[in-house]
Amino acid sequence: MNFVGSHILSVSQFEREDVATVFAVADKMEPYAHRRKVTRVLEGAILGNMFFEPSTRTRVSFGCAFNLLGGEVRETTDIKASAIAKGESFYDTARVLSGYSDVIAMRHQLEGSVAEFASASRVPVLNGGDGANEHPSQALLDLYTIQNEIAGQGKDIDGLRIALVGDLKYGRAVHSLCRLIMLFNNIQFTLISSAGLRLPENYVEELRSRGHTVNLSDQLEEGIGQTDIIYLTRTQEERFPSQDEANKYRGLFRLNQAIYTKYCEPNTVIMHPLPRDSRGEASELDNDLNENPNLAIFRQTDNGVLIRMALFALVLDVVDQVDKHGRDVGWYTEKRF
Ligand code: CP
Repeated sequence: MNFVGSHILSVSQFEREDVATVFAVADKMEPYAHRRKVTRVLEGAILGNMFFEPSTRTRVSFGCAFNLLGGEVRETTDIKASAIAKGESFYDTARVLSGYSDVIAMRHQLEGSVAEFASASRVPVLNGGDGANEHPSQALLDLYTIQNEIAGQGKDIDGLRIALVGDLKYGRAVHSLCRLIMLFNNIQFTLISSAGLRLPENYVEELRSRGHTVNLSDQLEEGIGQTDIIYLTRTQEERFPSQDEANKYRGLFRLNQAIYTKYCEPNTVIMHPLPRDSRGEASELDNDLNENPNLAIFRQTDNGVLIRMALFALVLDVVDQVDKHGRDVGWYTEKRF
């Protein structure tokens, strides 16, 4: 695809070579994301960071990524703080905000909302999550993390064995990740969920039609045995018709160190898009795994900055100028990556 000036709304836009392009640019961003160098390549540019639904990682890392490229960030963090609460349409909001910004990142609770907004925007729009539909930058950072984690084991994405666990019905990160991984060859998907929260059938059919293996299970222990990656998810309570309905699924699939030791291969990588639900009755990913070296959740969040820097650099066509505007940092940088 031609990234320059494009909206990034769905992983369906990508071919395999596009994923490789994003990952190669993300690699190039490493000294800047890890604070060894600074670049001012986007000096003067403005990101409109429009988050109409709660977020910690996606909102802040989009903002950090833009700042690390030298740009400025203006943001909305709540629908109540925007004129959408007064009945303004996506069309008008997009026309207005795209006059103030050079690129926009947006999250909204409605499926298709970011695409509707983008159709009226005069600048590229990056989807930061639209309801239960898609979360493309999350899928890219997840797959980038997977590639990096398994490379040390002499594996690549072709032939990957991945178990997706939990709320596969409403989890947009899972939906985008499935669509992205299906570009590769011979993937073994194990889908572990309650019957009521299964991956929607159209995704399962798509995976199978591309020749991948799909196993369904409602037993965590049975499903995680022979996998390279366990990808856990939170029950997306905010998408359920009622709290009572969501409560039925809370805490059904929990990974802790004892289960990991008993059932998983020694190098199985543990992932989660976060936030994990750390309330006792949920706790899908136990704190007793925090020191497990195969827990990759905070490497995922760190990688989010590299991937989002790469997307901005590609969409705004500055990949080749990043280093020209770069220099070493002048402040103390603790080794933290
Ligand atoms: N993974 C993710 O989308 O996290 P936030 O909701 O904190 O952005």
